Amino acid sequence: VTDPVEPTRNGYGLEPEDWDELRRLGHRMVDDVIDGYQSLRDRPVWQPVPETARERFRSPLPLEPMGAERAYEEFRKYVSPYPRGNSHPRFWGWVNGSGLPLAAFAELLAGAMNSSVSGFESAAPLVEEQVLGWLKEMLGFPASTGALLTSGCSMSNILGLAVARSSKARIDMRRAGVAAAPQRMVLYASNETHSSIRKAVELLGLGSEALRIIPARADFRIDTDALEAAVAKDRRNGLHPFCVVANAGTVNTGAIDDMPRVADICEDHALWLHVDGAFGSLAWLCPELRPKLAGLQRAHSLAFDLHKWMYLPYDVGCVFVQDAQAQHDAFAVSPSYLSQTIDGPALRATSFADYGIELSRRFRALKVWLTLKAHGLQSFEQQIRKNIRQAALLAERVEAHPNLALAAPVALNIVCFRYLDPDAQAEELDQLNHDVLIRLQTSGVALPSHAVLNGRFVIRTAITNHRSNYEDFDILVEAVARLGAEMSNGERRRLARRSSMSGL
Ligand SMILES: Cc1ncc(COP(=O)(O)O)c(C=O)c1O
Repeated sequence: VTDPVEPTRNGYGLEPEDWDELRRLGHRMVDDVIDGYQSLRDRPVWQPVPETARERFRSPLPLEPMGAERAYEEFRKYVSPYPRGNSHPRFWGWVNGSGLPLAAFAELLAGAMNSSVSGFESAAPLVEEQVLGWLKEMLGFPASTGALLTSGCSMSNILGLAVARSSKARIDMRRAGVAAAPQRMVLYASNETHSSIRKAVELLGLGSEALRIIPARADFRIDTDALEAAVAKDRRNGLHPFCVVANAGTVNTGAIDDMPRVADICEDHALWLHVDGAFGSLAWLCPELRPKLAGLQRAHSLAFDLHKWMYLPYDVGCVFVQDAQAQHDAFAVSPSYLSQTIDGPALRATSFADYGIELSRRFRALKVWLTLKAHGLQSFEQQIRKNIRQAALLAERVEAHPNLALAAPVALNIVCFRYLDPDAQAEELDQLNHDVLIRLQTSGVALPSHAVLNGRFVIRTAITNHRSNYEDFDILVEAVARLGAEMSNGERRRLARRSSMSGL
């Protein structure tokens, strides 16, 4: 019988025909990866994908093999030159980590092991368990805490809130569903809270109206008096307040909610405290910053990322739930095909799958394990401390500049500021700062992003980058000041021209 998919030189087999060829290609890939890291500073932070490359992404579904080398050539030409930019030393947009080289190789190793980390007996789940133990220790949570690595903080937020919903429901939530709740379940978060919380609330069937938005104070931290009043009012109105989401580092400004006070309110009203500590909770690594994060360990659940302020490549986040049993009860199912056997690989029945949504899971623990071992936690502590100092230095530079002003207090590693033109109105300044930012981003020199604070457009620099030097922030300040001056003058000249043309 002839095998219809017998591999031939140009045939349809999926294994390499020539391992030495793949080895050579693999070595080239490794060389290119290292060259890419080494030349980061020589490249623009960001550049748009040109039409010549875009065209390639409209090519038809490939039916015939083109071979690994040619496919890789396409990657080199059309994909790798156009990254998001977050590995570059002057990328400070949104909250994107800078990516550790060793961790990129860990991804290769994990891919080669091809483990599906749902549970069962093999080394990968043991690595994840060890990593989770380290993360708990690192953030001061007890070893008994339930934990899971996730694809990121959005997933961690929904998992934490799912446990909150089940635990605080006055019904069997899993069986009866939200509609059976005798009173509408409601939860609270400040208006500075990340959109993933709203998404989670909607996906959990609670409805976005159940998310009570509490105003933040001038320092962008939740107004705890308004929070307490809202809880009391909802209770009087027959609703069922069940949870507060506190921020340990808001996405816009890095503000840290008054967690001890929020935790007290939660205790007084028997509410679940979920903390979104996406990046801010990592500041716990620096002992001198811990007072800012007081109350963190009072969270019933904590969501945070390692692809932000632990500099790991995408993706890896984590969720903690103090009551591991509650986490298990919120998700575990035991179909017969996943049950335990007395020996062999199923000796240990699925476990991670019982603490979250996914059954098949990436071996994302490996990059955490390898980099923590290789670099040691102290190296991460030092880098976080450096980023905090860089934020303070940038804030000083901004304050010292006659045409720049801080737009928010700097709580941690985020600096929001504006270019000021004394002759411009507030709306004109919004436009000017927007235009300056776009020019800066498209110049490839530096990449902060933006935020809208109290209705005003601001330039926002979120520093979760282990490659940034102190001088990189001088370059940023100089570029914003220069562009601001050029563009406000240009704008004035344009306006003057327009008014002289119209005879005014
Ligand atoms: C405070 C906060 N929460 C949640 C998220 C969502 O995290 P992820 O993008 O990892 O899903 C972010 C992302 O920037 C964030 O800053």
